[in-house]
Amino acid sequence: MLRAKIIATGSYAPAKKLTNLDLEKMVDTSDEWITERTGIKERRIAGEKQTTSDLAYEASKIALKQSGLKAKDIDLIIVATVTGDMPMPSTACLLQNRLEAKKAAAFDINAACSGFLYGLSVAESFIKAGTHKKILLVGAETLSKFTDWKDRTTCVLFGDGAGAVILEATEGENCILSTHIHSDGSLWELLNLPGGGSKNPPTKESINKGLHFLKMKGNETFKAAVRTLESLVTDTLKANNIKPSQLSALIPHQANLRIIQATANRLGLSMDKVVVNLDRYGNTSAASIPIALDEAVRTGRIRKDDYILLEAFGGGLTWASALIKW
Ligand code: COA
Repeated sequence: MLRAKIIATGSYAPAKKLTNLDLEKMVDTSDEWITERTGIKERRIAGEKQTTSDLAYEASKIALKQSGLKAKDIDLIIVATVTGDMPMPSTACLLQNRLEAKKAAAFDINAACSGFLYGLSVAESFIKAGTHKKILLVGAETLSKFTDWKDRTTCVLFGDGAGAVILEATEGENCILSTHIHSDGSLWELLNLPGGGSKNPPTKESINKGLHFLKMKGNETFKAAVRTLESLVTDTLKANNIKPSQLSALIPHQANLRIIQATANRLGLSMDKVVVNLDRYGNTSAASIPIALDEAVRTGRIRKDDYILLEAFGGGLTWASALIKW
């Protein structure tokens, strides 16, 4: 039976750092508040002309190099993002052009912070179906361009970056064991970016009302995240007959350290098994898991035969997980 395997990873974050101390000068906040409530210390910010596809391109080049494949070998490109370069064409098509991956079909996925794991689920299904054999999956965001830098309740949370993986078909047992995707559209108002679509097309009024900035009900989102992630991670392990003690690493979406700790507690996992890098990047939405995965692979935290659990939660609402035998 064909299964999907991640054969290479890559990530990229813009050079510019914005620290909590920098934010203290911009809004009424403090390093202490941000660190205590979120765990975030700094985040990366894209340059004025730097787009989401630019970040995706850098991360993809690294993953391609590691895989030993050429861009022309890739037959499908999926980009998970809510901050694409433009509403149309897809950021995946722009990336295909930059990479000169002429054989590849290309499309975007919008599942907010769960986007990378939704993409992993789609890529896995295409590989299992046998229709595509070498897939480039990227999570890439420039949330800084959609952040209201006067709103202290959101601007301290987000950052920019991109992470990429290359997937290939395998018949071996080192592969993606399962993926799980969920949504609850009734809670869409907890986290949204209301402007720029057909509901609120761009007008002077929509700009003045700040509709092109991300909106969030932080406290309710926090509670919904903890609630859904608890059952998501236990159900994912149960579906594969794996005990938490067999896990070598949990790679969570990097939104808030307290949410991550609650999930780890639920599984009885000590924090040294949990990959955390949100102190350096903040919440990079769809990019957060592939950046953390890439860092874990490169620093030797993940080794062959390890069981790795990935989980995410985001706007939609959406939530998703994957269990991998590396
Ligand atoms: N600096 C200082 N004070 C701030 C602040 C900031 N950046 N942002 C909010 N506050 C204030 C609030 O105004 C509030 O003040 P009040 O009590 O006088 O009204 C107080 O801090 C508490 O606000 P609250 O929203 O209840 O804090 P919280 O403990 O829920 O933490 C979040 C806020 C945003 C950190 C937290 O809710 C969170 O992380 N939610 C999930 C967000 C998330 O992960 N979203 C993405 C999902 S993918």
